[in-house]
Amino acid sequence: MVVFNTPGANANGVKELVLAGMLLGARDIVGGIQWCKERTDDPEIAKSVEKGKKAFAGHEIKGKKLGVIGLGAIGAEVANAAAALGMEVYGYDPFISVNAAWNLSRDVEHITSVDTIYKECDYITVHVPLLDSTREMINEKSLDMMKDAW
Ligand SMILES: NC(=O)c1ccc[n+]([C@@H]2O[C@H](COP(=O)([O-])OP(=O)(O)OC[C@H]3O[C@@H](n4cnc5c(N)ncnc54)[C@H](O)[C@@H]3O)[C@@H](O)[C@H]2O)c1
Repeated sequence: MVVFNTPGANANGVKELVLAGMLLGARDIVGGIQWCKERTDDPEIAKSVEKGKKAFAGHEIKGKKLGVIGLGAIGAEVANAAAALGMEVYGYDPFISVNAAWNLSRDVEHITSVDTIYKECDYITVHVPLLDSTREMINEKSLDMMKDAW
């Protein structure tokens, strides 16, 4: 059996799943699907939908602040894609490689203190390796700094 190290090989796949997760969270799409499934026998479905759809409106991600912690193969892709979707993107990576920095959109704001991300962002996505320095970086203290869920 041949084993390869293929850094960045699934970065695009992970980026797409991160975007999917964000959209699912912003719109409660899963809740909406469940709500529809529970009404398959409703003869007044059109009226029910008009009445009930407000609960699943959520919000657009455009204009929301996304904090990306770790701007390697995955983080840089996520940051660029989110910027292209109109999000305000904050990027934090004290050890960013020259290559990753070259690939990063100019629209991504370079943040030097991770606390700024915890305090100001509406969404936060973490793409760092598990090291002693990153283990439990999301903890009680960082969670305390974050905005309340809307
Ligand atoms: N679960 C999965 O399916 C899956 C898939 C792909 C990658 N991963 C994991 O996701 C992580 C990221 O993958 P990648 O390909 O982007 O890795 P990468 O090595 O290209 O990027 C990691 C980045 O994290 C940065 N970093 C390190 N310590 C940091 C810190 N304290 N604060 C901020 N940034 C820091 C590094 O400078 C680097 O730029 C890796 O641990 C990888 O193993 C998991």
